[in-house]
Amino acid sequence: MPSPEAGFVITIDGPAASGKSSTAREVARALGIRRADSGAIYRAVTAARLRRGDPPTSWTEQSVLDAAAAVSLVPVTDSFEVRIDGVGIDAELRGPAVTAMVSRVAGMQSVRARVDSLMRTCARDVAIVVDGRDMGTAVFPGAALKIWLVADVEVRARRRSLEMRGVEPDDEEVARAASALLARDEADARQTKPATDAILVDTSRLTPSEQVDRIVALANERISSL
Ligand code: DC
Repeated sequence: MPSPEAGFVITIDGPAASGKSSTAREVARALGIRRADSGAIYRAVTAARLRRGDPPTSWTEQSVLDAAAAVSLVPVTDSFEVRIDGVGIDAELRGPAVTAMVSRVAGMQSVRARVDSLMRTCARDVAIVVDGRDMGTAVFPGAALKIWLVADVEVRARRRSLEMRGVEPDDEEVARAASALLARDEADARQTKPATDAILVDTSRLTPSEQVDRIVALANERISSL
């Protein structure tokens, strides 16, 4: 199989906890190309703004956009590291303070324009897998392959709890996680839509390797027709 060249883009979008991150990482690895996570950039912008210390009630869109200037993406072996003021910040991105505020930041149109531009810069010189909510609609409408990942809310809740807590959740925990996910889906609904030409992959009853294999097979079809 020839390696895809710069300009070849695979988008993987879908609601919260549908498996985008892990799938994008593994698909990129299988194809030997880089992956860029747009959600991590929204999280980094939020973390950069939180660092200023004033309460979120006083955040203006301009102040968030100013904080976004400190966020950069640096190519590493198989992905792009997200940095604030040149320093990698992975752990901070998943913390509760960022999670609580990121939907509000992601709703700011000037911030979205900035993130879109960072994502397009990542794709300029290399083939890439990108994941998020609107990669196939707003950011890369001409992508070679667009995937829309879905899973039943209970399956997503179970996976998210397991990932966060490291133990199999009980029914009460699943119900709590499901209602948090539905609230997050609602908060992000405006930009969370499949492209008309996206291929729907329902992962509710697929193992992680089955879902990766399915997308890699679709990608290889596209690559061999280049
Ligand atoms: O996928 P995630 O949980 O890391 O995303 C973090 C937040 O950013 C979430 O509220 C959805 C939002 N987001 C977005 O609006 N558009 C994207 N392309 C990616 C994420």
